[in-house]
Amino acid sequence: MKSDVTLAIETSCDETAVAIIGEDGGILCSEVSSQIELHSRYGGVVPELASRNHSADLRPLIEHAIKRAGILWADVAVVAATSGPGLASSLLIGGTTAKAIAVSLGVPFYSINHMEGHLLSPFLGRKDPVPGHIALIVSGGHTLVVLVNGVADYEVLGSTKDDAAGEAFDKVGKMLGLPYPGGPEISKLATEGDPHAFEFPRSMIDSGDFSFSFSGLKTSAMYLLRKLGGAPCDTVVANICASFQEAVVDVLVAKAIAAAKRYQSDVLSVSGGVSCNPRLRERIVEDAGKEGVLVKLVDPIYSTDNAAMIAFAAWARRRAGIRESKLSSDIDPNMSLSP
Ligand code: KG4
Ligand code: ZN
Repeated sequence: MKSDVTLAIETSCDETAVAIIGEDGGILCSEVSSQIELHSRYGGVVPELASRNHSADLRPLIEHAIKRAGILWADVAVVAATSGPGLASSLLIGGTTAKAIAVSLGVPFYSINHMEGHLLSPFLGRKDPVPGHIALIVSGGHTLVVLVNGVADYEVLGSTKDDAAGEAFDKVGKMLGLPYPGGPEISKLATEGDPHAFEFPRSMIDSGDFSFSFSGLKTSAMYLLRKLGGAPCDTVVANICASFQEAVVDVLVAKAIAAAKRYQSDVLSVSGGVSCNPRLRERIVEDAGKEGVLVKLVDPIYSTDNAAMIAFAAWARRRAGIRESKLSSDIDPNMSLSP
């Protein structure tokens, strides 16, 4: 018997995702239908295409998830959906569907912040309470350092003043002529390159706060490519990838560890799409370890957008005694993590 399960829908950007987790927070299924191939033709996400595909893919994906989890509709005790931040037309599809399911089953609806999903993802499937700690969230749209006091109690200590870390990867990838999204491609090519071959800026690394700025990196990459002239050979591309990646990693690692030290936190969680970057994972564990800080890394499978993290956030909120959301609650494309 798998009663009291949480069903969650995530449609904030270009992944249609549905997940079901059990009464104990364990993942019963996590289904992601990616639209990357569709959008890669345009070099980025086309909002109209994304929402049209969410509405076509969502219903079959929910039915598939119910079968995969081996549950009945009657087992669903909570329905959750991402309600921001993200693309308005995409958020509406998942949010409205989730509310409709909640109403028809007569169960509570939880509106979840996508960034809270990422933030809690390193603890996915764990029953013990989420500890107070520092969280580094690095995705395509956000770069955040957060003081976590407990579930639903977050204080954003710093964010990016311009491009997010993932956005910088994607923009530099585009300049290098790599497929969209550039992040995974750059990290693959970087393994063959020299991280010291080219000089990239470490903007704001010594600013003493937890703000980031990554837009200078794409300007540097542009000037470098112009200076090199013509199409660079594979070795040069690999060197650019490794050097650029090292600059991003240096700043992320320095700021996250500085926050852990400033707030005397011995736990640092790392999540979001960029957190599956192997160099970031290696460096942050190594450098934090030297400071006695334990790093909780999200499983790479759950680092990019998925609904398991949304289900888990709803589960954790409910378990912490936080009330369900109103059905009249709206989506918010610019939703913030801090109150
Ligand atoms: O969290 P996510 O799936 O979506 C957002 O909420 O934005 O993150 C997507 C971002 C993209 O910018 C993508 O290029 C980046 O994560 N990413 C990576 C890697 N894998 C995905 N960046 C660097 N290295 C990777 N291995
Ligand atoms: Zn995300």
